[in-house]
Amino acid sequence: MEKLTVELGARSYPILIGDGLIREIGAHVAPLLKRPRTMIVTDSHVADHYLAALGTALAMENISFSSFVLDAGEATKSWAGLARLTEWLIGEGIERRDHVIALGGGVIGDLVGFACSIVKRGCHFIQVPTTLLAQVDSSVGGKTAINVPAGKNLIGAFHQPAMVVIDPTTLETLPRRELGAGYAEVVKYGLIDDADFFAWCETNGAALLAGDSTARAHAIGHSVAAKARIVAADERETQDIRALLNLGHSFGHALEAETGYSDRLLHGEAVAAGMVLAHQFSAANGLCPAADAARVRDHLASVGLPHSLTSAGINTGGAELAAHMAHDKKVRGGKLPLILSRGIGQSFVTDEYGLDAVAAFLDGQRGA
Ligand SMILES: NC(=O)c1ccc[n+]([C@@H]2O[C@H](COP(=O)([O-])OP(=O)(O)OC[C@H]3O[C@@H](n4cnc5c(N)ncnc54)[C@H](O)[C@@H]3O)[C@@H](O)[C@H]2O)c1
Ligand SMILES: [Zn+2]
Repeated sequence: MEKLTVELGARSYPILIGDGLIREIGAHVAPLLKRPRTMIVTDSHVADHYLAALGTALAMENISFSSFVLDAGEATKSWAGLARLTEWLIGEGIERRDHVIALGGGVIGDLVGFACSIVKRGCHFIQVPTTLLAQVDSSVGGKTAINVPAGKNLIGAFHQPAMVVIDPTTLETLPRRELGAGYAEVVKYGLIDDADFFAWCETNGAALLAGDSTARAHAIGHSVAAKARIVAADERETQDIRALLNLGHSFGHALEAETGYSDRLLHGEAVAAGMVLAHQFSAANGLCPAADAARVRDHLASVGLPHSLTSAGINTGGAELAAHMAHDKKVRGGKLPLILSRGIGQSFVTDEYGLDAVAAFLDGQRGA
């Protein structure tokens, strides 16, 4: 088992990583609990695979629990989902000192985290992420939210988990397409500030996606350590450090909005295409070598991820796509900070480029 720490003073917490960890989770969770009782929240897909194993592991440590199974899918991260969950928690007699276990992907993690930030003015939660995206990104850092009709993740709170327990073997049941989407966020850490890790991805990404457990362990450990470091340095995104995690996300956001946040384009798939666009935009503006932008595109293409507007299934004008970006919640004073690149592993934040420049660039990418 590997153990990392997210260093946030009094709110620091451990990240435990190890194959089979779900089956021994009771022993790790027990020391946190003020009474031997917890509540598990999961979705219908994950429940089928892992709820029984998690329950057995808790029972082995004499921890009693009840469980709540929500519908799988992004629609659960909504006011309705939040209402059902918070009312269930209160009906179960939750106390402020209790810990809720979020077992699932980013949808469950974000929803449970937000519910636990408001129930009884705040209780504890433990993340047990079961998608690659959640294991390398969403389970760490305390961003929690639901979606509302006006946009994704617009209602939420910062609320850090008490512990993150990552069992990489859970990825063996994850659909290949979801694994690929999560892999885009792995590649992101290389592109942000770690050229050596990007090179590692070029060599080992295909093996990881084919199920190689050694490559999987390295990618998860390395990515989550990067996330923990960035969160510790800039917990609330008040400097330009945590913002770097949005590499590919402003362009990707436009593509997701254009496809209606549907399964036509998964979040990670949009981020993959978005990271290519960010590098190509950087190259077009003389910031980044064209060869580096091509390397990003070629690697993502080689593992079957979207790497252009066309491969993302988009054939929309640049102005329309840029208009989606104007609604981004990161807009400040009418300007959208963009994460651009000076080369592989050299990302930076700038608000020097207006949406008109982005629109013209995207127009040029149409059909590419
Ligand atoms: N809080 C953050 O910092 C942060 C960061 C990135 C993304 N997010 C959020 O995360 C969400 C996306 O998360 P996601 O990609 O994990 O999606 P998800 O939670 O919807 O999971 C994807 C699908 O895989 C299924 N699944 C999960 N684990 C499985 C397993 N081990 N085996 C089989 N099926 C499994 C789920 O039931 C679901 O159908 C979005 O709402 C996004 O906004 C949050
Ligand atoms: Zn993302």
